Amino acid sequence: MGWTMRLATAALFLGLTMVVTGDEIKNGVCIYDALPDNDAVLCKGLEVFYPELGNLGCMIVPECNLYRQKITQWPAPIVKFPGALEGATYILVMVDPDAPSRSFPKYRFWRHWLVTDIKGSDLKKGKILGQELSAYQPPSPPEESGFHRYQFFVYLQPEMAISLLPKENKTRGSWNMDKFLNRFHLSEPEASTQFTTQNYQDSPSFVALSGGENIKTKDNSRKR
Ligand SMILES: *[C@@H]1O[C@H](CO)[C@@H](O)[C@H](O)[C@H]1NC(C)=O
Repeated sequence: MGWTMRLATAALFLGLTMVVTGDEIKNGVCIYDALPDNDAVLCKGLEVFYPELGNLGCMIVPECNLYRQKITQWPAPIVKFPGALEGATYILVMVDPDAPSRSFPKYRFWRHWLVTDIKGSDLKKGKILGQELSAYQPPSPPEESGFHRYQFFVYLQPEMAISLLPKENKTRGSWNMDKFLNRFHLSEPEASTQFTTQNYQDSPSFVALSGGENIKTKDNSRKR
């Protein structure tokens, strides 16, 4: 069977399994859960839209429909700040504070996306047009590293050019975001949100499934 066929079969099978376990699919609809309260504090006025899923702000990416796999491939989301001021300019930051894991984040922060010079009128509509200092990199949490938070912040941009130091530009990991913010006198974000996801191969239904036919193609050698 080709990879696509196997995926299709897997998707079908996953769907069935989850109806049985009643885990996330109810009446054929993929239900997704909100973040727990301690993680929801970051959800302030920002919306992040991915294909199929809609606004993921304050949500846990569901495992049904292979969403945890799809999000590692989708292009940049629509990021909307309805409260943006028409005449203002903004900076967008997307980071993972849980690199390589939430329990041992020695590479905090992982910079997934950094865009400056975004017009308020665009941000209001969800159009992220500006200077891309770090190109969008989709969430791709490593296997068995638990749930990662993907955080989005928008800051009012002062009237000065914003740039990364050559050292900061060299690598995405271990980014000292506070230092960056201090350098440009940025303090509180105007809006923020986050969602969480984990490696799709760590989802309970995926594990159950790969106990039978192994649909992992990247790493067939790992034993569970
Ligand atoms: C380094 O800068 C270039 C040009 O602005 C950008 O496209 C690239 O994504 C940056 N690299 C990192 C790791 O941020």
